[in-house]
Amino acid sequence: MEVLIFPDSLSLARKSADLVESQIKKYPDSVIGLATGSTPLGLYRELIQRHNSHGLSFSGVTTFNLDEYVGIPADHAQSYRTFMDDNLFNKIDIEESNTQVPDGMAENPLEVGPAYEKEIERAGGIDLQVLGVGTDGHIGFNEPTSSLGSITRVKTLTQQTIEDNSRFFEPDEFQPKLAITMGIKTILDARRILLLAHGETKAKAVRNMVEGPLSAMCPASALQLHERTTILIDEQAASKLTLKGYYKFVGEMQDDLVRKHRPSDWISR
Ligand code: F6R
Repeated sequence: MEVLIFPDSLSLARKSADLVESQIKKYPDSVIGLATGSTPLGLYRELIQRHNSHGLSFSGVTTFNLDEYVGIPADHAQSYRTFMDDNLFNKIDIEESNTQVPDGMAENPLEVGPAYEKEIERAGGIDLQVLGVGTDGHIGFNEPTSSLGSITRVKTLTQQTIEDNSRFFEPDEFQPKLAITMGIKTILDARRILLLAHGETKAKAVRNMVEGPLSAMCPASALQLHERTTILIDEQAASKLTLKGYYKFVGEMQDDLVRKHRPSDWISR
């Protein structure tokens, strides 16, 4: 697990956009896994800006979103489809038919997961997966105690996640308590993973993910098993890491190596 610590969320967003841009430039038909929430907004702003300023093109890219609420239609203001349309898809040149978000209104939500897995497989698997992390250590909506071998399926949200997300819903509005989410195995099958986190509220989850035991109680700790995961965090999110100084030292050493040899091995295929 590579841990990169940034002084602020803007430099973090820029670095994550550099990584996504290099992936797309090398493989214009890349398959990218995407997250919603406040964490990737800076990354999406950067990608839109690069599309506008120097024509970074997404025309060959296919995307798979991690998750969607069960029980609200795609055009609902709080659906993850709407979030993606508003914050990325409608502002770049991606083909709508190449953007996949689980169907939260399917007649039988239990059938959505296996079909989504097949779609990912048909696309050739995910080259690069972007993740945020919940304050309880969830990735996607894989809440604590999710099976580390899980695939896309319906999950019941925890009280903490419901409370964290309640800010997006009116007090008297229906707030979903179920979601369809890629599983932990689905995520670990991605060839390359970028997990982004900023702010003090994520510090505990980041510590458990990076330095805690591998445990279903912190689903993000499963990323310790993945060969090519990079954790991009700001100083606040890094504040509870015991080996913070070491990660910075590793970063400097890596920079030296990159300067000398210019490896591009983080690009996935
Ligand atoms: C969203 C998702 C979630 C979020 C996590 C952090 O698609 O899968 O795991 O990444 O809840 O949310 P924010 O970024 O809003 O703090």
